[in-house]
Amino acid sequence: MNWTMTPAISSDAFAPLAGESSTPLYRQLYDRVRASIAAGDLAPGDRVPSARALAKELGVARGTIELAYELLASEGYLLARGQAGTVIHPALQPAAAPDSRPVAPPGERAAPAPDTLWRPAQLLPFQMGVPAMDAFPRKIWARLGARYLRGMQTADLDYPPPHGLPALRSAIASYLQVARGIDCGAHQVFVTTGYRASLQLVALALMQPGDRAWVEDPGYPPTRQLLRESGLLPVPVPVDDCGLAVERGIALAPDARLAVVTPAHQSPLSMSLSLPRRHALLEWATARNAWVVEDDYDGEFRYAGRPLPALASLDRHGRVLYAGSFSKVLFPGIRLAYLVVPQAQVAAFERVGRIFFAAATPAITQAIVAEFMAEGHFSRHIQRMRKLYAERRMATIAALERGLQGRLRTEPQPGGMHLVLRLPGERSDQPLAEKLLASGMAVQAMSCWWASQRTESALLLSFTNCTTATQAERLGILIRQSL
Ligand SMILES: Cc1ncc(COP(=O)(O)O)c(C=O)c1O
Repeated sequence: MNWTMTPAISSDAFAPLAGESSTPLYRQLYDRVRASIAAGDLAPGDRVPSARALAKELGVARGTIELAYELLASEGYLLARGQAGTVIHPALQPAAAPDSRPVAPPGERAAPAPDTLWRPAQLLPFQMGVPAMDAFPRKIWARLGARYLRGMQTADLDYPPPHGLPALRSAIASYLQVARGIDCGAHQVFVTTGYRASLQLVALALMQPGDRAWVEDPGYPPTRQLLRESGLLPVPVPVDDCGLAVERGIALAPDARLAVVTPAHQSPLSMSLSLPRRHALLEWATARNAWVVEDDYDGEFRYAGRPLPALASLDRHGRVLYAGSFSKVLFPGIRLAYLVVPQAQVAAFERVGRIFFAAATPAITQAIVAEFMAEGHFSRHIQRMRKLYAERRMATIAALERGLQGRLRTEPQPGGMHLVLRLPGERSDQPLAEKLLASGMAVQAMSCWWASQRTESALLLSFTNCTTATQAERLGILIRQSL
């Protein structure tokens, strides 16, 4: 093949496609490019033909080539460099083992996303992902803890039950029925040590290595990291004002086996997944026998009207696995979460849950939470926090905008625990976030949350621990002075 029109490489990857095959043309090209990269036939930095030239050469629609390129770029295999053309991503590292496993896209391993698990030694203003630590009812907690310790029997020294304390599983099922509209029994609730453990349980129980999984882009980086470490292939799917663009997911990877979504408040943009999108997602999952993980990490915190019912409440065909966590509604150090699985999957989860010992949170913690819920403290605490966060949110926005003096505006969503402050220019957020951290303010750069090459520059800042207007005003001033 002679690519005289462009200085791009010649490779079997770009040989004519099989029009009679049941595999869509874009998918054939996508598979071939990946296989050629894995075989070393295409090397990092090699230029690929332009979509226009390749479409002409192969006699297919340009959109077919663009779709394949877009998918490859979104997974980090290709890098679009504007006028300079598109190349095999220079940071791509070939897979170490000479097997058929896909090579690692650079965004995931070669150049890992900034460590979203990193925490400063002490809680800093605007730190993401933490509830109001000053407002936790520690006295009640201490009383329940002391009562448990006084009443402890020898049997309580044993391993806790493998799927969670029965009292806790029942309390969670009752709570979800009322608060999130989910109709489930206690036997469908599997206690875990956190969201990641819940996701790992899903991968162990329902997935096969190499299965594709839609993830939101931008999205919570640990989700895609964990899926990849579990042998799955995350496919970043764009989000827009209505949440996950389901039709884009279907175009990019119709055969995916899993979609991980944050329907209540998209992480990190905080918009809700619209009702038509919820239906489209469930329809796709039902038609394809795929699974949907609903990551409902902060669904309770909505400031206009009541919290939206969970996606799981609409699921009539048993496709949704609902992942809840106590990190935001109580405190993250508790390491306690749960997964609600469809009735037909209970046996599969009981099997892997026993092997994996997913409910490894100490029995004392599980017992205290069960009592905390049964005595009504949990619902009261959430109501109090909803009110407190609504106040802190408004106060933070007002003070921040005073400091910014109209240079930038926040775009508050009706729910969530943080604000998004968009900045001009791509990736300008990372140096600014580092500078702010040096001033003791733990804001995050949103560009770190993107899996694809597309990035928008924004700062993410939590208001849950913002207790004085001075902090937010100072932050606004520092940002303004850096623009
Ligand atoms: C998007 C998202 N999902 C889930 C969680 C809960 O994770 P964990 O249960 O490990 O604390 C968080 C916490 O920050 C989160 O931001």
